[in-house]
Amino acid sequence: MYTSTLRLVCVSLLLCLSQSCYQCFVNVEDSLRLCWGHVLTEYNVRNVDACFEKLDRIFNNNETVIEAGRVGKGYDIQLKEILGAEILPLVEEFDQKLNNDTVYEQRLQTAADNFISAASKLPRVSGCIPPCGFQSAGAVYNCVTCQYDSCEFPLDCPVEEIKVMENSGIRMWCDVPFALPTDIEVIWRFAEEVETQQLDQFKEVTVGADRLYSIPSVTLQHQGTYQCEVYSGQLSLIRVYYYISDGVTEST
Ligand SMILES: *[C@@H]1O[C@H](CO)[C@@H](O)[C@H](O)[C@H]1NC(C)=O
Ligand SMILES: *[C@@H]1O[C@H](CO)[C@@H](O)[C@H](O)[C@H]1NC(C)=O
Repeated sequence: MYTSTLRLVCVSLLLCLSQSCYQCFVNVEDSLRLCWGHVLTEYNVRNVDACFEKLDRIFNNNETVIEAGRVGKGYDIQLKEILGAEILPLVEEFDQKLNNDTVYEQRLQTAADNFISAASKLPRVSGCIPPCGFQSAGAVYNCVTCQYDSCEFPLDCPVEEIKVMENSGIRMWCDVPFALPTDIEVIWRFAEEVETQQLDQFKEVTVGADRLYSIPSVTLQHQGTYQCEVYSGQLSLIRVYYYISDGVTEST
């Protein structure tokens, strides 16, 4: 009894390490009840470990199952319902009863097929707006981590060049392609003369909530790259770049 309990704990630990759509939505207790009566037909012995291996093979290591789980924001609740509707009746049916591995194989495979076909119909439109910035809201669900992915864009936006005539004024708007939270802090930095995205070349010029940076009268000293970095809390969300160059010299 002691060793079999110990083995169950190890199995549950293993289960915790390799996540998947199944582990995201079915708790270990239900899995233990589901696998309780798993009989190896060949030897006619009960074997729970082999049942967990079967779950791994059919659900956890199957790319089609994981792919079906890549749903849009908020739809993980439906994923859980779909999988629950397949698995929980099996838990009740198999708990404390012996069934051959062939029966398990067939029923779990059917459950996986039904999950794939229903989950694939859920919306999976990503709200990620390229090309830059940390966008947590747009991503799709990931059954390997049991979380929504972030959009995986770089923080740095491409440098936009603005040609300005000397002595004229310019207003730069820290233009972010996605919705920002309300508690933002904006830092404007400047790298004189050069066009660059090297962070160590910039010096801080303003800190605050203001996304607008204006220069009333542009002189030679204003030429260079302006960087606007937006933070929420301690988290950097995006870095926008403008390269201000001399409009007169360029056009003559
Ligand atoms: C994954 O599951 C699907 C549906 O159950 C099945 O058709 C496919 O063969 C499985 N893939 C692998 C690599 O086992
Ligand atoms: C499992 O299969 C064996 C061999 O086919 C059979 O004798 C046995 O009755 C089956 N057990 C159950 C629980 O169905």
